[in-house]
Amino acid sequence: MNADKLQKTAIITGASSGIGKALAFEMAQKGYNLGLVSRRLEALEQVRTDIKQQCSNNINIEIETLDVAEDHTILPVLEKLSNTLGGTDIIVANAGITAVNRTGTGNFSVDRNVIQINLIGAMATVDAAAALFRKQKKGHIVGISSVTAWVGIPGSSAYSSSKAGFTTYLQAVRGELRKKNIQVTTIHPGFIDTDIAENMGSKPFVISAKKAAGQMLSAIEKKKSSVIVPNLPWSVVTKLITLLPEKIVARAL
Ligand SMILES: NC(=O)c1ccc[n+]([C@@H]2O[C@H](COP(=O)([O-])OP(=O)(O)OC[C@H]3O[C@@H](n4cnc5c(N)ncnc54)[C@H](OP(=O)(O)O)[C@@H]3O)[C@@H](O)[C@H]2O)c1
Repeated sequence: MNADKLQKTAIITGASSGIGKALAFEMAQKGYNLGLVSRRLEALEQVRTDIKQQCSNNINIEIETLDVAEDHTILPVLEKLSNTLGGTDIIVANAGITAVNRTGTGNFSVDRNVIQINLIGAMATVDAAAALFRKQKKGHIVGISSVTAWVGIPGSSAYSSSKAGFTTYLQAVRGELRKKNIQVTTIHPGFIDTDIAENMGSKPFVISAKKAAGQMLSAIEKKKSSVIVPNLPWSVVTKLITLLPEKIVARAL
């Protein structure tokens, strides 16, 4: 394994669509070798074909199916990809879902599923990445949270909780791994135009997945601890949310 090589390698979960796919394209353009995972093999194969067609860089792209809800399967898949790719520099815990559910309407299984994938699955991905990087003695973990980490959205209580929990988890893990030469970056997207966003009602300040991925890769390469994408207006909005009384914030939701 040669993690000091010039050509960097990244593994991305949830790479079959949306932000994960756009990030894969951005990284491919910059010459990263890639390990792409999600549940749908055909969609991953299509992403690989599209990248190979559109990107002139001679990069290696490996794909594997993975359901992050099956947490015991994550480390073996990451290890397999990392061995094939000759080491891994960056692992992006991006896989996630959204679901609308009104509390107390007999659909708690919907909320449970959101927490299982977005929080437990994301934590398990970070845990597996940390195990791999501890052996490697270096690495960079990136977690995709959300600006909803700052505010509980009515109708998306489980989703908002999953992201608030993931942000706090990543902050704690960043402290644990700082002295192990393992960086942790938390990315909080605002509204990004992807499949997930189709389930959302209004999408203020929405930007394309390509634009978001460019800003995310820039933050990752600068090894930032925590970023909001796009920074404006969301850094101001999230600051206001923490300062304003809840009654006033609630009126805007
Ligand atoms: N779009 C936004 O406005 C927005 C805002 C804030 C945060 N985010 C976060 O960004 C991340 C990516 O979302 P997106 O907007 O790009 O949505 P998306 O287009 O629906 O992509 C979600 C990805 O996650 C994968 N996935 C879902 N469940 C999985 C599971 N159990 N195991 C493995 N992979 C799974 C999907 O692939 P398969 O179906 O092939 O498994 C897909 O590749 C999510 O964590 C989301 O919460 C998005």
